[in-house]
Amino acid sequence: MLPSHWPKWTIILIALALAVFAVFFGLVLEPVAQAMMPRPTPTPILPMLHYAAPQSWDCIFCHTNYEKLRQFVADEAKLERLWIDPADIYSTHGRLGCVTCHRGTGNTQDVALAHQGLVPNPSDYREAAKVCVICHGNVRTDIPEKHIHTPHERILKGIREGWEVCACSNCHGPVAHGEKPLASHEGLAAYCMDCHQAKNVPPERLKCSGCHIAPHDIALDCETCHRSTRTWSNVRLAVHPVELTGAHAQLACFDCHKKPNFRGLRYVCSDCHQRPHTFGDENCERCHTSEGWRK
Ligand code: HEC
Ligand code: HEC
Ligand code: HEC
Ligand code: HEC
Ligand code: HEC
Ligand code: HEC
Ligand code: HEC
Ligand code: HEC
Ligand code: HEC
Ligand code: HEC
Repeated sequence: MLPSHWPKWTIILIALALAVFAVFFGLVLEPVAQAMMPRPTPTPILPMLHYAAPQSWDCIFCHTNYEKLRQFVADEAKLERLWIDPADIYSTHGRLGCVTCHRGTGNTQDVALAHQGLVPNPSDYREAAKVCVICHGNVRTDIPEKHIHTPHERILKGIREGWEVCACSNCHGPVAHGEKPLASHEGLAAYCMDCHQAKNVPPERLKCSGCHIAPHDIALDCETCHRSTRTWSNVRLAVHPVELTGAHAQLACFDCHKKPNFRGLRYVCSDCHQRPHTFGDENCERCHTSEGWRK
């Protein structure tokens, strides 16, 4: 194996060198390998939903039954409020079961006993962490595809630190049953605005941009252009930076601008129009106006 003229002991030397190298290699590589190893993160203690749908049948039986409720409540308006549409029981949130959200004591038709430990609003700042936030802890504050800015971040912070902003139900209703205030814009706008006005929310919050995210690159008030709370396409601009006369007055904004942005245009005719004739120069406005090329 070795060249024949090498003394025999060189093999010992080589072996020794290899051994030292192996030890050294190990010493160096070990920490590197350690550093590169994926480290298991300690499992966080997951909050758990106290799932109790199976204990909810007695609550459902009474609260979906007018005859039964009437034995306890005379006031028709209140009865209407307490009655739950059986169809709601099988909605996404309804399936969680009354006791999961409202607690109380299941499996009894004794009203007083059933309501022991009842939580009237499972979505207020003291309770939401045990119910809504378990599933919705990552709810987005900005919902760009709907151009909506919500106060979710502030609400979640309040819930985590124990101070009140709004209960989820202030805007979303009881979710599992009953009305959904966010369903129509008319109701909704009045609804948000009334409370904002009542609670003296700073006036800039009452502007469109308090709740809406613009898709545009321009920081003008939305009210400057938008004239409707039903549709975004009802727009009018009192003053345009360059006068839109002649044929230009008939155009839609984004015939010239690059949707949805407004910035970065120049009012130089040749930026948008090509000269079909060889005479003249790029200075079209010397001879033409927006009234028509032939004028
Ligand atoms: C036998 C009928 C009956 C049963 C069973 C029953 N309830 Fe009620 N519930 C009522 C009546 C009646 C009221 C109105 C009580 C009042 O305001 O005096 C009521 C009120 C409530 C309210 C509103 C409380 C408030 O302060 O606004 C909630 C929430 C509620 N029930 C949830 C439950 C849950 C959860 C269960 C099951 C654990 C349950 N109920 C079982 C009859 C019943
Ligand atoms: C996903 C959680 C959830 C589930 C499940 C749920 N509720 Fe509610 N419930 C709420 C919230 C939130 C409110 C709103 C409280 C408010 O606006 O003050 C509410 C309100 C109520 C009210 C008072 C209504 C009012 O307008 O004041 C009653 C009664 C009630 N729930 C009964 C029930 C019963 C009975 C069930 C089972 C069939 C049930 N809930 C299931 C979350 C839930
Ligand atoms: C067990 C998990 C769970 C809990 C607890 C829960 N949700 Fe939900 N929630 C969901 C799921 C899943 C959806 C998506 C439903 C869908 O797309 O149909 C949803 C959707 C929603 C939506 C959007 C609905 C829509 O129509 O766009 C709102 C608002 C909401 N939840 C509020 C709440 C509130 C308030 C509570 C507490 C009272 C709550 N949720 C408790 C699972 C949960
Ligand atoms: C001040 C009003 C307000 C309050 C309070 C509020 N939300 Fe919302 N939420 C909104 C608005 C506005 C939207 C967007 C409207 C839409 O999707 O139609 C929304 C959307 C949502 C959605 C759908 C989000 C998505 O990504 O599509 C969920 C889930 C939700 N909210 C959960 C909650 C929960 C849970 C709470 C309580 C911790 C809460 N919200 C409190 C106003 C509110
Ligand atoms: C129950 C009363 C109430 C209702 C209903 C309500 N708000 Fe508010 N809202 C407030 C209060 C109080 C503040 C806090 C103002 C502050 O401290 O600046 C607020 C703040 C906000 C903020 C600013 C949050 C931030 O940190 O940027 C937005 C956005 C908002 N609300 C949107 C809505 C929308 C959308 C609705 C209707 C779906 C609505 N609000 C309904 C009371 C309400
Ligand atoms: C307090 C909050 C708030 C204010 C202020 C507000 N809006 Fe809204 N607006 C909403 C919410 C919430 C929706 C419902 C979004 C949805 O359907 O998901 C909405 C919906 C709309 C829609 C319908 C959007 C669609 O896709 O159907 C238009 C248009 C609109 N708003 C325009 C405006 C204009 C213009 C202003 C100012 C004059 C304004 N809004 C002020 C909260 C507000
Ligand atoms: C300089 C005028 C102008 C201003 C300021 C303005 N917009 Fe617009 N916006 C428009 C025009 C024009 C359209 C296109 C209308 C159409 O569909 O014909 C539009 C469309 C939209 C659309 C629909 C976008 C789509 O993809 O369908 C939304 C949402 C919108 N604007 C929100 C806002 C909000 C929120 C603000 C304020 C923060 C705002 N805009 C400010 C002119 C403006
Ligand atoms: C004939 C093409 C044309 C049409 C149609 C048009 N614009 Fe313009 N717009 C321009 C040009 C060119 C400029 C740049 C003017 C300048 O600063 O020299 C401009 C500038 C603007 C600016 C200022 C942008 C900035 O950088 O500050 C706004 C806002 C604007 N337009 C909104 C609108 C709206 C809203 C409409 C629809 C009502 C509209 N434009 C229709 C050509 C047009
Ligand atoms: C930002 C782009 C833009 C600028 C800058 C611009 N235009 Fe236009 N112009 C248009 C668009 C878009 C139309 C409608 C589409 C078309 O007919 O070419 C139009 C239409 C016209 C028309 C009517 C064409 C016809 O067939 O009826 C005339 C004339 C015109 N422009 C003249 C001018 C003159 C003159 C200038 C310089 C002062 C100018 N334009 C600057 C975008 C622009
Ligand atoms: C020196 C003057 C002059 C200049 C500069 C000039 N034009 Fe013209 N242009 C004319 C005359 C003259 C006509 C013929 C009008 C007629 O047929 O009645 C014309 C015709 C046109 C026509 C209409 C052709 C047809 O048959 O309908 C267009 C389009 C046009 N010009 C575009 C432009 C553009 C774009 C520019 C700038 C890049 C420009 N012109 C610069 C003088 C000029």
